[in-house]
Amino acid sequence: MHYPHDFQMVGGELHCERVAVRRIAQTVGTPVYVYSFRTLVNHLRGLQQAFRSLRPLICFSVKANGNLAILRLLVQRGAGLDIVSGGELYKALRVGCPPSRIVFASVGKQDKEIREALRAGIFCFNVESAPELEAIDRCARRLRTTARVALRINPDVDANTHRHITTGIAESKFGIDPATALALLRRAAALRGVRFLGVHVHIGSQITQARPFLHAIRRTAEVVIRARRLGVGLEWLNLGGGLGIIYKDEQPQTPQAFASAVLPLLQPLRVRLILEPGRFIVGNAGVLVTRVLYVKPAPRRRFAVVDAGMNDLIRPALYGAYHEVVPVRQDRPPSTVHRPQRYDVVGPICESADVLARDRRLGPLHPRDLLAVLGAGAYGSTMASNYNGRLRPAEVLVRGRRWALIRRRETRRDLIRHDVIPRALLK
Ligand code: LLP
Repeated sequence: MHYPHDFQMVGGELHCERVAVRRIAQTVGTPVYVYSFRTLVNHLRGLQQAFRSLRPLICFSVKANGNLAILRLLVQRGAGLDIVSGGELYKALRVGCPPSRIVFASVGKQDKEIREALRAGIFCFNVESAPELEAIDRCARRLRTTARVALRINPDVDANTHRHITTGIAESKFGIDPATALALLRRAAALRGVRFLGVHVHIGSQITQARPFLHAIRRTAEVVIRARRLGVGLEWLNLGGGLGIIYKDEQPQTPQAFASAVLPLLQPLRVRLILEPGRFIVGNAGVLVTRVLYVKPAPRRRFAVVDAGMNDLIRPALYGAYHEVVPVRQDRPPSTVHRPQRYDVVGPICESADVLARDRRLGPLHPRDLLAVLGAGAYGSTMASNYNGRLRPAEVLVRGRRWALIRRRETRRDLIRHDVIPRALLK
């Protein structure tokens, strides 16, 4: 298969590696995120291999999936982490990620976060603006240290992806235009708290073609070359994340194809490479398992109301994203004729946008049937919320025949943990 993962039907039952998904659902309940250890490792290895000639630092993007077990297993296999907040820094350090493998992006870094990252000794700050650069310089000098930084270049390249996840066009809030970046690099000597390590570019997410990356690299390479002429020796190029995966019928590039497209541009630059993949590593390594509550016929539609909603997986509601939905078990008695029917798979949330999948041939479905929403590993659990008083799902990691809970289902107690009733004020 072009882009392999370890969820497959065996004897009419969906398995994750060697474990029947139904067994997990029966034990921990639904909704539950189920991840494959093998898929995660294979995707990381695929990238490490494809780019090995540049000895890349592959920093998994924590925002795609911040589960500690997942972060730990990737870090154990040589990954670094791409973080965007003090909270993610905390997680990165908790899983034992060497600070020398942490890179920190975000347009809104606060002094407190900058100081924490400096004290931890992270590898590099990806800087998004001139005032941010000054803030980092100031914090570093106060701590009597130097911050390693890479300027994030906005190359003004359209990544041809969903408008909510495109980040490299001039209108977007991300990065610094090449002219401003060069002006900042000219000031390098005056900024004693920072050392310019390289440049960073991230043009968007779910990009299936090499072309936008090539445009972005060309723009960024110009900055590197001109900076060197100014005497600023940039050694690293961080190409960000953005590698697309298959949700429906996309034909994304394999790591090898991606590498052979971009390596010819990178090699002459004599730079070390950083990549920040999120979706590529974890996207199809996870599914969201949900149970049918009701089958609801209506005049124009047939609904399968399930126990997972947009609070658990917001991608369909937020981006109109397509996720494949498959039955966890397909063993219908052979005597009866069952023609699939079309269903809208909807959650219980009080919002019309709470549709996980529209007009899908499934079933026929019955209450208590289990369904798996595929490709839910990236930006699934990290974007989950308690909306409608719902408890965020449990998460499970499968490795071969074994599996373990990696996040407990939230409890009612979690729902009210931070609320305060100020009795005097309400009197
Ligand atoms: N590096 C930077 C600077 C980023 O902003 C991102 C993602 C990544 C790396 C990782 O990108 P990936 O390899 O996963 O494409 N919630 C959206 C995606 C938002 C992406 C945000 N930035 C979704 O569910 O499609």
